[in-house]
Amino acid sequence: MMDQQIYQARYEEYRKAVEAFLNQQLTDKPRWADLYDAMRYSLLSGGKRIRPVMTLEFARLAGIKNWKDALPVACALEFVHTYSLIHDDLPCMDDDDLRRGKPTNHKVYGETLAVLAGDALQPEAYHLILTSHALNAEQKAACALILSEASGADGMVGGQVLDTIHESKTREDVTLVHRLKTGAMIAGACKLGVAAAGGSESFLKAAQEYGYQIGLAFQIRDDMLDVIGDQQAFGKPIGSDQDEGKVTFVDLLGIEGCEQAVLECTEKAKQSVADYDADGFLSTLADAMAIRNI
Ligand code: IPE
Ligand code: IPE
Ligand code: MG
Ligand code: MG
Ligand code: MG
Repeated sequence: MMDQQIYQARYEEYRKAVEAFLNQQLTDKPRWADLYDAMRYSLLSGGKRIRPVMTLEFARLAGIKNWKDALPVACALEFVHTYSLIHDDLPCMDDDDLRRGKPTNHKVYGETLAVLAGDALQPEAYHLILTSHALNAEQKAACALILSEASGADGMVGGQVLDTIHESKTREDVTLVHRLKTGAMIAGACKLGVAAAGGSESFLKAAQEYGYQIGLAFQIRDDMLDVIGDQQAFGKPIGSDQDEGKVTFVDLLGIEGCEQAVLECTEKAKQSVADYDADGFLSTLADAMAIRNI
Protein backbone atom coordinates (compact mmCIF):
# COMPACT_ATOMS: atom_id res chain seq x y z
CA MET A 1 0.00 0.00 0.00
CA MET A 2 1.10 3.49 -0.82
CA ASP A 3 0.54 6.49 1.40
CA GLN A 4 -2.92 7.89 0.47
CA GLN A 5 -1.66 11.42 -0.04
CA ILE A 6 1.11 10.34 -2.38
CA TYR A 7 -1.36 8.12 -4.25
CA GLN A 8 -3.89 10.93 -4.62
CA ALA A 9 -1.28 13.44 -5.70
CA ARG A 10 0.00 11.13 -8.45
CA TYR A 11 -3.53 10.27 -9.59
CA GLU A 12 -4.30 14.01 -9.80
CA GLU A 13 -1.12 14.72 -11.73
CA TYR A 14 -2.01 12.05 -14.30
CA ARG A 15 -5.68 13.09 -14.43
CA LYS A 16 -4.86 16.75 -14.99
CA ALA A 17 -2.42 15.90 -17.78
CA VAL A 18 -5.13 13.78 -19.43
CA GLU A 19 -7.70 16.60 -19.12
CA ALA A 20 -5.27 19.10 -20.61
CA PHE A 21 -4.38 16.80 -23.51
CA LEU A 22 -8.04 16.03 -24.27
CA ASN A 23 -8.91 19.72 -24.06
CA GLN A 24 -6.43 20.46 -26.85
CA GLN A 25 -8.21 18.10 -29.26
CA LEU A 26 -10.88 19.09 -31.83
CA THR A 27 -10.60 22.83 -31.31
CA ASP A 28 -10.89 23.89 -34.99
CA LYS A 29 -14.10 25.35 -36.32
CA PRO A 30 -14.89 23.64 -39.65
CA ARG A 31 -18.43 23.83 -41.05
CA TRP A 32 -19.14 20.55 -39.26
CA ALA A 33 -17.95 21.91 -35.90
CA ASP A 34 -21.23 20.72 -34.38
CA LEU A 35 -19.64 17.25 -34.64
CA TYR A 36 -16.59 18.51 -32.73
CA ASP A 37 -18.89 20.05 -30.10
CA ALA A 38 -20.69 16.74 -29.61
CA MET A 39 -17.38 14.86 -29.32
CA ARG A 40 -15.90 17.40 -26.91
CA TYR A 41 -19.09 17.42 -24.81
CA SER A 42 -18.57 13.79 -23.88
CA LEU A 43 -14.77 13.84 -23.90
CA LEU A 44 -14.66 16.68 -21.39
CA SER A 45 -17.63 16.00 -19.14
CA GLY A 46 -15.58 14.86 -16.16
CA GLY A 47 -14.87 11.15 -16.29
CA LYS A 48 -12.72 9.55 -13.62
CA ARG A 49 -10.01 8.80 -16.24
CA ILE A 50 -9.07 5.54 -14.56
CA ARG A 51 -8.08 3.90 -17.87
CA PRO A 52 -5.62 6.59 -19.03
CA VAL A 53 -4.28 6.85 -15.46
CA MET A 54 -3.51 3.12 -15.64
CA THR A 55 -1.84 3.52 -19.03
CA LEU A 56 0.40 6.29 -17.71
CA GLU A 57 1.37 4.37 -14.56
CA PHE A 58 2.14 1.18 -16.51
CA ALA A 59 4.24 3.22 -18.97
CA ARG A 60 6.15 4.71 -16.05
CA LEU A 61 6.70 1.31 -14.43
CA ALA A 62 7.80 -0.18 -17.76
CA GLY A 63 10.53 2.44 -17.95
CA ILE A 64 9.31 5.06 -20.42
CA LYS A 65 11.64 8.09 -20.43
CA ASN A 66 8.85 10.55 -19.64
CA TRP A 67 5.35 9.30 -18.74
CA LYS A 68 3.90 12.28 -20.66
CA ASP A 69 5.10 10.56 -23.84
CA ALA A 70 2.31 8.02 -23.28
CA LEU A 71 -0.44 10.67 -23.18
CA PRO A 72 -1.56 10.30 -26.83
CA VAL A 73 -1.90 6.54 -26.40
CA ALA A 74 -3.65 6.88 -23.04
CA CYS A 75 -6.08 9.42 -24.50
CA ALA A 76 -6.65 7.27 -27.60
CA LEU A 77 -8.17 4.62 -25.37
CA GLU A 78 -10.18 7.32 -23.56
CA PHE A 79 -11.56 8.39 -26.97
CA VAL A 80 -12.77 4.84 -27.58
CA HIS A 81 -14.11 4.56 -24.03
CA THR A 82 -16.02 7.84 -24.58
CA TYR A 83 -17.53 6.56 -27.83
CA SER A 84 -18.59 3.36 -26.03
CA LEU A 85 -20.43 5.41 -23.41
CA ILE A 86 -22.19 7.65 -25.97
CA HIS A 87 -23.46 4.61 -27.85
CA ASP A 88 -24.19 2.66 -24.64
CA ASP A 89 -26.65 5.38 -23.56
CA LEU A 90 -28.61 5.47 -26.84
CA PRO A 91 -32.29 4.48 -26.85
CA CYS A 92 -31.42 1.32 -28.82
CA MET A 93 -28.93 0.32 -26.11
CA ASP A 94 -29.42 1.16 -22.39
CA ASP A 95 -31.65 4.17 -23.08
CA ASP A 96 -30.22 6.42 -20.37
CA ASP A 97 -30.65 10.19 -19.97
CA LEU A 98 -27.93 10.94 -17.42
CA ARG A 99 -24.15 10.42 -17.55
CA ARG A 100 -21.60 12.00 -15.20
CA GLY A 101 -24.42 14.08 -13.77
CA LYS A 102 -25.26 15.65 -17.12
CA PRO A 103 -27.73 14.88 -19.92
CA THR A 104 -26.43 12.12 -22.19
CA ASN A 105 -24.98 13.02 -25.58
CA HIS A 106 -28.10 12.17 -27.60
CA LYS A 107 -30.26 14.22 -25.22
CA VAL A 108 -28.20 17.30 -26.04
CA TYR A 109 -27.21 16.74 -29.68
CA GLY A 110 -29.85 14.30 -30.93
CA GLU A 111 -29.40 10.66 -31.88
CA THR A 112 -27.90 11.24 -35.31
CA LEU A 113 -25.05 13.42 -34.09
CA ALA A 114 -24.51 11.20 -31.04
CA VAL A 115 -24.04 8.16 -33.28
CA LEU A 116 -21.72 10.13 -35.56
CA ALA A 117 -19.71 11.58 -32.65
CA GLY A 118 -19.16 8.01 -31.44
CA ASP A 119 -18.22 6.93 -34.97
CA ALA A 120 -15.67 9.72 -35.36
CA LEU A 121 -14.03 9.10 -31.98
CA GLN A 122 -12.85 5.68 -33.16
CA PRO A 123 -10.65 6.64 -36.15
CA GLU A 124 -9.53 9.75 -34.27
CA ALA A 125 -8.22 7.46 -31.55
CA TYR A 126 -5.97 5.66 -34.04
CA HIS A 127 -4.98 9.03 -35.46
CA LEU A 128 -3.70 10.02 -32.00
CA ILE A 129 -1.59 6.87 -31.76
CA LEU A 130 -0.21 7.11 -35.29
CA THR A 131 0.73 10.79 -35.03
CA SER A 132 2.32 10.49 -31.59
CA HIS A 133 5.84 11.92 -31.80
CA ALA A 134 7.40 10.04 -28.93
CA LEU A 135 6.74 6.48 -30.15
CA ASN A 136 8.65 4.57 -32.82
CA ALA A 137 6.87 2.69 -35.62
CA GLU A 138 6.97 -0.62 -33.79
CA GLN A 139 5.50 0.85 -30.60
CA LYS A 140 2.72 2.59 -32.56
CA ALA A 141 1.80 -0.65 -34.30
CA ALA A 142 1.78 -2.55 -31.00
CA CYS A 143 -0.48 0.09 -29.41
CA ALA A 144 -2.91 0.16 -32.35
CA LEU A 145 -3.18 -3.63 -32.22
CA ILE A 146 -3.89 -3.61 -28.47
CA LEU A 147 -6.59 -0.93 -28.83
CA SER A 148 -8.26 -2.71 -31.75
CA GLU A 149 -8.38 -6.00 -29.83
CA ALA A 150 -9.64 -4.40 -26.62
CA SER A 151 -12.47 -2.53 -28.30
CA GLY A 152 -13.42 -4.75 -31.24
CA ALA A 153 -15.68 -7.69 -31.98
CA ASP A 154 -13.87 -10.00 -29.53
CA GLY A 155 -13.55 -7.26 -26.93
CA MET A 156 -15.83 -4.46 -25.75
CA VAL A 157 -18.30 -4.60 -28.66
CA GLY A 158 -18.64 -8.38 -28.33
CA GLY A 159 -19.51 -7.83 -24.67
CA GLN A 160 -22.06 -5.16 -25.55
CA VAL A 161 -23.74 -7.61 -27.95
CA LEU A 162 -23.98 -10.25 -25.23
CA ASP A 163 -25.22 -7.63 -22.77
CA THR A 164 -27.94 -6.08 -24.91
CA ILE A 165 -29.10 -8.79 -27.31
CA HIS A 166 -28.30 -12.16 -25.71
CA GLU A 167 -29.64 -13.34 -22.40
CA SER A 168 -27.08 -14.00 -19.69
CA LYS A 169 -28.38 -15.99 -16.77
CA THR A 170 -25.57 -17.81 -14.98
CA ARG A 171 -22.55 -16.48 -13.12
CA GLU A 172 -20.41 -17.87 -15.94
CA ASP A 173 -22.46 -16.00 -18.59
CA VAL A 174 -22.38 -12.69 -16.73
CA THR A 175 -18.66 -13.03 -15.97
CA LEU A 176 -17.98 -13.38 -19.70
CA VAL A 177 -20.08 -10.28 -20.45
CA HIS A 178 -18.16 -8.31 -17.84
CA ARG A 179 -14.76 -9.54 -18.99
CA LEU A 180 -15.55 -8.49 -22.55
CA LYS A 181 -17.53 -5.28 -22.16
CA THR A 182 -15.42 -3.81 -19.34
CA GLY A 183 -12.41 -6.02 -18.64
CA ALA A 184 -11.08 -5.91 -22.19
CA MET A 185 -10.81 -2.11 -22.26
CA ILE A 186 -9.25 -1.86 -18.79
CA ALA A 187 -6.78 -4.64 -19.63
CA GLY A 188 -6.10 -2.83 -22.92
CA ALA A 189 -5.37 0.41 -21.04
CA CYS A 190 -2.80 -1.38 -18.87
CA LYS A 191 -1.15 -3.15 -21.81
CA LEU A 192 -0.98 0.10 -23.80
CA GLY A 193 1.25 1.61 -21.14
CA VAL A 194 3.67 -1.32 -21.25
CA ALA A 195 3.67 -1.34 -25.07
CA ALA A 196 4.27 2.41 -25.29
CA ALA A 197 7.36 1.91 -23.14
CA GLY A 198 8.55 -1.12 -25.12
CA GLY A 199 8.14 -3.33 -22.03
CA SER A 200 8.68 -7.09 -21.83
CA GLU A 201 6.25 -9.90 -22.74
CA SER A 202 6.02 -10.96 -19.10
CA PHE A 203 5.12 -7.43 -18.03
CA LEU A 204 2.45 -7.32 -20.77
CA LYS A 205 0.95 -10.54 -19.41
CA ALA A 206 0.92 -9.19 -15.86
CA ALA A 207 -0.70 -5.95 -17.09
CA GLN A 208 -3.37 -7.95 -18.90
CA GLU A 209 -4.21 -10.03 -15.83
CA TYR A 210 -4.27 -6.97 -13.56
CA GLY A 211 -6.59 -5.20 -16.01
CA TYR A 212 -8.95 -8.14 -16.36
CA GLN A 213 -9.28 -8.62 -12.62
CA ILE A 214 -9.75 -4.89 -12.00
CA GLY A 215 -12.22 -4.80 -14.89
CA LEU A 216 -14.32 -7.58 -13.42
CA ALA A 217 -14.25 -5.95 -9.97
CA PHE A 218 -15.06 -2.60 -11.57
CA GLN A 219 -18.13 -3.88 -13.40
CA ILE A 220 -19.42 -5.84 -10.38
CA ARG A 221 -19.11 -2.62 -8.37
CA ASP A 222 -20.88 -0.76 -11.22
CA ASP A 223 -23.76 -3.26 -11.03
CA MET A 224 -23.92 -2.78 -7.24
CA LEU A 225 -23.99 1.01 -7.57
CA ASP A 226 -26.79 0.67 -10.12
CA VAL A 227 -28.81 -0.68 -7.17
CA ILE A 228 -27.40 0.90 -3.99
CA GLY A 229 -25.68 3.97 -5.43
CA ASP A 230 -26.59 7.59 -4.89
CA GLN A 231 -27.59 9.12 -8.23
CA GLN A 232 -26.13 12.49 -7.26
CA ALA A 233 -22.68 11.01 -6.64
CA PHE A 234 -22.78 8.21 -9.25
CA GLY A 235 -23.94 10.62 -11.96
CA LYS A 236 -25.96 7.88 -13.70
CA PRO A 237 -29.58 6.76 -13.26
CA ILE A 238 -30.08 4.16 -10.52
CA GLY A 239 -32.03 1.07 -11.60
CA SER A 240 -31.08 1.24 -15.26
CA ASP A 241 -30.05 -2.44 -15.38
CA GLN A 242 -33.34 -3.59 -13.86
CA ASP A 243 -35.31 -1.37 -16.25
CA GLU A 244 -33.50 -3.06 -19.13
CA GLY A 245 -34.23 -6.51 -17.65
CA LYS A 246 -30.56 -7.42 -17.20
CA VAL A 247 -29.34 -10.19 -14.93
CA THR A 248 -26.40 -8.69 -13.04
CA PHE A 249 -24.06 -9.89 -10.30
CA VAL A 250 -26.43 -8.33 -7.77
CA ASP A 251 -29.19 -10.72 -8.89
CA LEU A 252 -26.80 -13.66 -8.78
CA LEU A 253 -24.86 -13.02 -5.56
CA GLY A 254 -26.67 -10.30 -3.60
CA ILE A 255 -24.89 -7.19 -2.37
CA GLU A 256 -22.72 -8.98 0.19
CA GLY A 257 -21.75 -11.66 -2.29
CA CYS A 258 -20.77 -8.91 -4.72
CA GLU A 259 -18.62 -7.24 -2.08
CA GLN A 260 -16.83 -10.54 -1.55
CA ALA A 261 -16.37 -11.10 -5.31
CA VAL A 262 -14.97 -7.58 -5.73
CA LEU A 263 -12.44 -8.22 -2.94
CA GLU A 264 -11.37 -11.52 -4.50
CA CYS A 265 -10.76 -9.94 -7.91
CA THR A 266 -8.94 -7.02 -6.28
CA GLU A 267 -6.59 -9.42 -4.47
CA LYS A 268 -5.90 -11.32 -7.70
CA ALA A 269 -5.20 -8.03 -9.47
CA LYS A 270 -2.71 -6.98 -6.84
CA GLN A 271 -0.96 -10.35 -6.88
CA SER A 272 -0.58 -10.30 -10.64
CA VAL A 273 1.56 -7.12 -10.56
CA ALA A 274 3.34 -7.77 -7.25
CA ASP A 275 6.72 -8.05 -9.03
CA TYR A 276 6.30 -4.74 -10.86
CA ASP A 277 4.31 -2.42 -8.60
CA ALA A 278 7.43 -0.93 -7.01
CA ASP A 279 5.84 1.77 -4.86
CA GLY A 280 2.32 0.33 -4.53
CA PHE A 281 0.36 2.75 -6.73
CA LEU A 282 -1.36 -0.07 -8.63
CA SER A 283 -2.36 -1.86 -5.41
CA THR A 284 -3.71 1.33 -3.90
CA LEU A 285 -5.62 2.07 -7.11
CA ALA A 286 -7.13 -1.44 -7.00
CA ASP A 287 -8.25 -0.92 -3.41
CA ALA A 288 -9.72 2.49 -4.20
CA MET A 289 -11.73 1.08 -7.13
CA ALA A 290 -13.14 -1.69 -4.94
CA ILE A 291 -14.91 0.76 -2.62
CA ARG A 292 -15.70 3.55 -5.08
CA ASN A 293 -19.09 5.28 -5.05
CA ILE A 294 -18.65 7.22 -8.28
C1 IPE B 1 -18.33 3.42 -17.14
O1 IPE B 1 -16.97 3.52 -16.92
C2 IPE B 1 -18.60 2.22 -17.95
C3 IPE B 1 -18.32 0.96 -17.25
C4 IPE B 1 -17.49 0.11 -17.71
C5 IPE B 1 -19.02 0.65 -16.02
P1 IPE B 1 -16.39 4.58 -15.89
O2 IPE B 1 -17.06 4.38 -14.56
O3 IPE B 1 -14.91 4.50 -15.90
O4 IPE B 1 -16.88 5.95 -16.53
P2 IPE B 1 -16.31 7.41 -16.44
O5 IPE B 1 -15.46 7.57 -17.64
O6 IPE B 1 -15.53 7.59 -15.17
O7 IPE B 1 -17.54 8.27 -16.48
C1 IPE C 1 -20.79 -0.41 -19.73
O1 IPE C 1 -21.69 -1.18 -19.05
C2 IPE C 1 -20.02 -1.08 -20.73
C3 IPE C 1 -19.57 -0.26 -21.85
C4 IPE C 1 -18.83 -0.81 -22.74
C5 IPE C 1 -19.90 1.15 -22.03
P1 IPE C 1 -22.89 -0.35 -18.41
O2 IPE C 1 -23.98 -0.18 -19.39
O3 IPE C 1 -23.22 -0.97 -17.09
O4 IPE C 1 -22.19 1.06 -18.15
P2 IPE C 1 -22.92 2.31 -17.53
O5 IPE C 1 -23.47 1.87 -16.18
O6 IPE C 1 -23.99 2.73 -18.47
O7 IPE C 1 -21.82 3.31 -17.38
MG1 MG D 1 -24.62 -1.04 -21.09
MG1 MG E 1 -25.19 1.62 -19.61
MG1 MG F 1 -23.82 0.07 -15.38
